[in-house]
Amino acid sequence: MIAKESLLLRVGVLGCGPIAQFAHFDACHKGRNTELYAICDAAPDLLERMAAMHGPQKTFARFEDMLSDPQVEAVIIAVSDQFHVPLCKQALDAGKHVFVEKPLGISIEECESLRTQVHAVRAREHRVFQIGNNRRFDPGVQFAHNFVRDEIGGLIAMKAWYCDSTLRYTMTDNLQPIPITSASAVKPGGNPKADKRKYFMLTHGSHLVDSARYLGGDIESVAAKLVEKYDSYCWFISVDFKGGHVGHLDLTVPLRGDFQEGFQIYGELGSVYGRIPLPWYHKSGDVECFSVKDKQFRRVIGEDAYTYKLQLEAFASSIMHNKPQLGASIDDGTAAMRAMVAIARSVEMGGAVRLDTVTGTV
Ligand SMILES: NC(=O)c1ccc[n+]([C@@H]2O[C@H](COP(=O)([O-])OP(=O)(O)OC[C@H]3O[C@@H](n4cnc5c(N)ncnc54)[C@H](O)[C@@H]3O)[C@@H](O)[C@H]2O)c1
Repeated sequence: MIAKESLLLRVGVLGCGPIAQFAHFDACHKGRNTELYAICDAAPDLLERMAAMHGPQKTFARFEDMLSDPQVEAVIIAVSDQFHVPLCKQALDAGKHVFVEKPLGISIEECESLRTQVHAVRAREHRVFQIGNNRRFDPGVQFAHNFVRDEIGGLIAMKAWYCDSTLRYTMTDNLQPIPITSASAVKPGGNPKADKRKYFMLTHGSHLVDSARYLGGDIESVAAKLVEKYDSYCWFISVDFKGGHVGHLDLTVPLRGDFQEGFQIYGELGSVYGRIPLPWYHKSGDVECFSVKDKQFRRVIGEDAYTYKLQLEAFASSIMHNKPQLGASIDDGTAAMRAMVAIARSVEMGGAVRLDTVTGTV
């Protein structure tokens, strides 16, 4: 039984594609403080079927029409990466709170320009802007984040890895409903998935880099190598964090084996070891924090690990109750974009690349 609060955030979802079908429509219904008020898609057949399945109060074929509905308080932008930034800008201009899927965008320049707009809007009024880095809402990851913040003291080093599996679609096909598609769906020109270096970095690297920053802090520079072998792409990345500690990131797609995502953190007064399951299992990460204070390991159960719902509930709480933002912010999304571009430049040119020097795209 889902307990709803008396005050619900009226959400409009842009995009009826797979991620909306697998996560956002359901999360709006199950969220304790959210309502699926409207959905929007330019593909009429998809819009009609999704409306019949999910029962929003309103449907829209055009984003501008959904934005001009004063009942829509916040929008979820769940469309291709290439469209994120212009549509976020449009939503901010219309006075809406914005939740956008990851990655924030596809180039540093567009992310920086959006960042300027978000800060300008925020200086005038209460507007929440959050990015869909759902790993932050895994209770195990939050437990590790709080342990690092409150107990570990200074950091020495952190390792994080994200290895997609050759078997992942067998797993996700079982866990997710069969997606409904439309020949009229709006897609970016060309095939952005054809360049795997770019596609894997934006799609998977955006999660890895955000987790590294969430747990390890701001990144100053990276030195990366990429091995492309046997149809796999394996990035090994040395990281210098601004805090003076070092890191190692591993992005491998695909790995011959199980899906693997996790991290290790070494600190002054403790250490952390965490493994995050494929998020579609909605199970909490398996995280152990060791503290020198009591010489004990601590673990959390995290019985509710539906990260797609938890991130939306937190978004709504920030909007309606002014709660501090827990999800990735515009600054986080822009910094993640810089990290991904710096990794790409380092692979091309060799050596360490500072994040504050890079331009362009991955
Ligand atoms: N957080 C996660 O775990 C996760 C997982 C998968 C995908 N994603 C992200 O979600 C985003 C969307 O992925 P997807 O596979 O669902 O996308 P998709 O391109 O398959 O579907 C998007 C839908 O939006 C509609 N659309 C696009 N622009 C529109 C516009 N201006 N007006 C009206 N309708 C419009 C299209 O017609 C399409 O039906 C991507 O950025 C992706 O990276 C995140």
